[in-house]
Amino acid sequence: MGQSASIRSAVFPVAGRGTRFLPATKASPKEMLPIVDKPLIQYAVEEALSAGVRNLVFITGSSKRAIEDHFDSDPELESALEAQGKHELLATVRGILPSWASCIYIRQPAPLGLGHAVLCARPVVGHEPFFVHLADDLIDATVPVLQQMAEAYAARQGSYVGVQTVARAETDKYGIVATRDDEGSSARVTRIVEKPKPADAPSTLAVVGRYLLSPTIFDRLESVGRGAGGEIQLTDAIADLLAAESVYAYKFDGKRYDCGSKLGYLEATVEYGLKHPELGDRFSSYLRQLSDQFKG
Ligand code: G1P
Repeated sequence: MGQSASIRSAVFPVAGRGTRFLPATKASPKEMLPIVDKPLIQYAVEEALSAGVRNLVFITGSSKRAIEDHFDSDPELESALEAQGKHELLATVRGILPSWASCIYIRQPAPLGLGHAVLCARPVVGHEPFFVHLADDLIDATVPVLQQMAEAYAARQGSYVGVQTVARAETDKYGIVATRDDEGSSARVTRIVEKPKPADAPSTLAVVGRYLLSPTIFDRLESVGRGAGGEIQLTDAIADLLAAESVYAYKFDGKRYDCGSKLGYLEATVEYGLKHPELGDRFSSYLRQLSDQFKG
């Protein structure tokens, strides 16, 4: 953990309805969709904890109770597992969250966008830099991405957005940055635009769901007004921040899966299945058989 322990809070905007996964997400949050045996939101929380975060701030909406239950203790389940001698499972359930982490739930009163969701965290985050993590963007990395960003921050203070190169045809799905002064993994952001058309995009460097933000962002979010899709956009507030403070694009090391799309979700499921300690070998021979069937 080391120096990265200086960022104490991570904000998880989880109020979105996940309409792309209906009917699965009708009564259950999209963040609870599992990749093999863990819900997306648990991968998100584990990444934040590994970066030294202690305050887990969830910005929730309707139909999100399952997230609160997931991170709460469940004495009934625990005693049943104990009585059945299922000690490993008991340890798994008890180990979801370490005792030193706090979960804070704030309800977003209306679906006014990602920027508005982040603004809802202001009373908890206060005057410190903080992370924003979008659980849809699952990133498999040797060093968890928030930890990578915290290390970059320890070396050079400022705000950071996680970026990766995307196809030009896809720029209208992302915040897109223009940069200068490339220095290894980070480069100074000179422009950031929310979901530009491919022809208008300043580059193909797209923001994915990892941010380390200066608390000044809250003032910018208060004043920014509605942007793309009539929503208060985090990207627009970051664009306003550029004039006053340094913002860096951070090219993280890791493979990202867009679990907000069905295809990305399936890709993650297959690849995490292949890496799973109990299932990996059997799953891999199953996939080989299957591909032989397709060839045959
Ligand atoms: C949000 C942000 C966008 C960012 C993306 C990353 O968009 O507004 O700037 O590139 O997350 O996944 P959304 O996917 O919520 O439309």
